Order: sequence, then structure tokens, then C-alpha cells
Amino acid sequence: MQRTLIVDLLNAAAPADNVALCGWIRTRRDAKEFSFVELNDGSCRANLQCIVDAGTAAQAGLGEAATGAAVRVRGALVASPGKGQRWEVRATAVEVFGLADPETFPLQKKRHSDEFLRTIAHLRPRTNKYGAAFRIRAEAGYAVHEFFRSRRFAWVHTPVLTGADCEGAGEMFRVTALEPGQTDLQRDFFGRRCNLTVSGQLEAEALAMGLGRVYSFGPTFRAENSNTPRHAAEFWMIEPEMAFADLDDLMDLGEDLTRSVVEHALAHCAEDLALFDSFVDKGLLARLKGLLAAPFARVPYAEAVEILQKSGKDFAYPVAFGTDLQTEHERYLAEEHFGKPVAVYNYPKEIKAFYMRQNDDGRTVAAVDILVPRIGELIGGSQREERLDRLTARIAELGQRPEDYWWYLDLRRFGSVPHAGFGLGFERLLMLLTGISNIRDVIPFPRTPGNLEF
Ligand code: 4AD
Ligand code: MG
Repeated sequence: MQRTLIVDLLNAAAPADNVALCGWIRTRRDAKEFSFVELNDGSCRANLQCIVDAGTAAQAGLGEAATGAAVRVRGALVASPGKGQRWEVRATAVEVFGLADPETFPLQKKRHSDEFLRTIAHLRPRTNKYGAAFRIRAEAGYAVHEFFRSRRFAWVHTPVLTGADCEGAGEMFRVTALEPGQTDLQRDFFGRRCNLTVSGQLEAEALAMGLGRVYSFGPTFRAENSNTPRHAAEFWMIEPEMAFADLDDLMDLGEDLTRSVVEHALAHCAEDLALFDSFVDKGLLARLKGLLAAPFARVPYAEAVEILQKSGKDFAYPVAFGTDLQTEHERYLAEEHFGKPVAVYNYPKEIKAFYMRQNDDGRTVAAVDILVPRIGELIGGSQREERLDRLTARIAELGQRPEDYWWYLDLRRFGSVPHAGFGLGFERLLMLLTGISNIRDVIPFPRTPGNLEF
């Protein structure tokens, strides 16, 4: 099908006689001798204006094609006398592919609430805002791969179906092939319990022990019943794992990755980011540029607790050494105290997962969370416990059976090395990039408690 994308037409260097563009009508305005059609094809935020003479319009039945209809316009790309646009198309032929009845098509030209648009998630990619959000999502994913590739990390694919509970938090979706009423796990597909992965970390560690530097980037599932603007039941996680690396290397990596994606978005998504800066989060661009301007702060957990205690803030959750930081604490640190992203490290071992490396003080582990303004935790990771005796003891201490981790412990039995890795929630990164404040609006089809439509 002959067609040129609108993004390429808008960037054309010279007029062209014979172009064809396909897209959806955003608006159509009829004057006596001409119809003016604003067409969008999703390749960029901007529409291209097409001018159709009354005869051509009548022949094509353009009169019935209202907002939302799909058409192809052929004609000449010419300099536009109108302001705000460089090019327009003088149509010589129009084909209407699919009409959209103005009585029932929900996306008429007016502002819709985010809540309403979530109920029509199948149509919202046709709006300016969600078109921009999902284009930025695509570019950010590309930037992630580019970042790791340039540093010689191998992209690895960890399993979605797994028998392990990486985080030990028990928030797993169970997968079974048993019929309702059957309960004998032995007769289930795998002959044992199977879950959707909550993290590919354990397998990524095994891969890092052979490939040196790896990262996974894929869907992750959590059955935590938390209805917050920052949690989804299905999200994408980026999990790098580095052999021969410590906590400092990990903090450097997290900071570099975050900046690199922000830099890429500023360079490649300017038009879409401008939409968010104007209509969703005024000051977004300044904040993103600020994030590139200064290094992230780094503070030990114990010191972060003191800062919070001395803040004079009336937090809903009290904070003391040994308590997990809540979003309100994380946001206070990043937004108010440091005014920029901050890496909090060396957490009490009791509130962190079994695999984190125990520090010499006997009470903390070499964990780090990177907290960012408006969101809180963006990254969670650690140096891993590479000492077999310590790791085995910790697993037992937590009431787990070391035999269940036999292959993970093998990594410590054979050629163990200091190593470290983290998980970055891709959607939270997108919230940072766009200023969108609800995770449901950076995922095309979000899965949250009670929501499985589409
Ligand atoms: O801090 P978490 O739970 O860490 C892990 O799973 C480690 N195994 C990662 C590793 O070291 N390889 O999750 C990592 C990140 C969080 O910082 C957050 O950004 C995101 O994943 N995340 C979620 N994002 C959206 N919805 C949820 N329910 C999320 N849970 C975690
Ligand atoms: Mg975490």
C-alpha cells in the first residue's frame, strides 16, 4: 500500500508532487469550495492538514467521514501558508477505509478524563496524550537496550514460568493446568507448584556467572493487592546483573542508566515531551534537565532515618531504624530534602531479601534503593551474598530449605565472585519521563486488582 508516514512528510526538505498518507481524521472542517482535514497516523504527535476540493470530497464520500474515520489521501505536499505548520497536502484523491459514527465514537474533540480513557483503553492510543505516552515508552525501551549494548551487557531472557520465589514475599500468581477440583500437585503440568515470575534475578545471576554482564528486560508479575498509583500486577522490569562488581559499581550503573534514558528521551521525544510539559506536568522538562545536571545523592539508610526523624514532618508511618521506608518517606527524601534522586544504601537485613550481601556490622546488608522525586522507589538492588556459608545460614534462618536453592547455591560452590544487580521498574521510569502520575496510564493495557478487561 503506497503511503508515507506523516512524521517523514512533516520533515520533508522539499515539496513533492505525488504523496499518499493514511491515517485517522482528527477534525474535518468544510468550507464552500474545500474541506480541511487534519490527519494523524500515529507516527508523531502533529497532524498533517489536507485540503480537499469539494468535487474530490464529494466523489470520495468524505462528507460522511468524521472524526475517527480512516482515510488515505493522495496529492501534493506543498508549503503551507497557514501559521504553525510548514507543509500541507493538496489532495487529488481520497479513499475512505472506515467510518466512525459521530453518535457513538467516544473520542470526539474535547478533553476526556484519564479515568474515562482507561475504560476505553483500546481507543486511547488515538489520543494525543496516549499516542505520546506510548511512543515515549517505545523510545525508552530502545534507549535501555542501547545503553546496555554500548556497555557490553548481554540481553538475557529469564523464564516467566518458574518454581522459585525470588523475593520471598509470596506475592505470586499461581499457574496450573489442573482442572477445578483437582488438587494433587504431582499430577499438575510440572509436577510441582508453578508461578509467574516476580523477578528474573536468580536466573540472571546464573547467566552473569558465565557471561559476565547481563540484563533482562521483560514482564514481571506481582499479586500484591495494593491499589496504588505506583503498583501494577503486570509490569516490565529491567534487571542488570554484573559479575566482579560491588555496591558502588551498582549505584553508578543505576544512575548512569537513568540519566542515559532521560537524555535519550530529551533528544528523541522532544515533541511528545513538550505535550506533557504543557498539559500534564508543568516543569517536567526543567526537572528532567535538572536530573542530568547534578549527580544523584547517596546516603546510608541509618542517616536517611535520622534525616526523616529530624524533618519535623508529620508522617503517617513513624520511622525508626529497622522500619521499611514508605512512599511518603522516600518522596520526602528525594523531593524535599535532597531535591533530586537519591540512592539509599545499607538497609537493615531484617527488611531485605535473603540474597543480599551481609555487611560486617552484622545488622545491615549491601542493598540500595534509588528514590526519585514524585515517585519514590525507582530501583531496588544489592550486592549479592557470594559466600556459601553465609548464604546457606541466612536461608535457614528465614525458615527456608537450602535444598530448594541447590542450583543457586551451586553458583557459590563453583567459582563464586562478588557480584551485584538491581531491578528497575520500567513503568516508574516512564512516569518519571512523562510526569504521568498513575502507572495505569503508562501501560497500554494495565492489570491491577479487579481489572482484566482488554
Ligand atoms: O525492589 P524489587 O522488588 O526488587 C527485586 O525484585 C529484585 N529481585 C531486583 C533485582 O535485584 N534484580 O523490584 C524492583 C523494582 C522496584 O524498584 C520498582 O521500580 C519495580 O521494580 N516494581 C514495580 N513496578 C510496578 N508495579 C509493581 N507492583 C512493582 N513492584 C516492583
Ligand atoms: Mg524494592
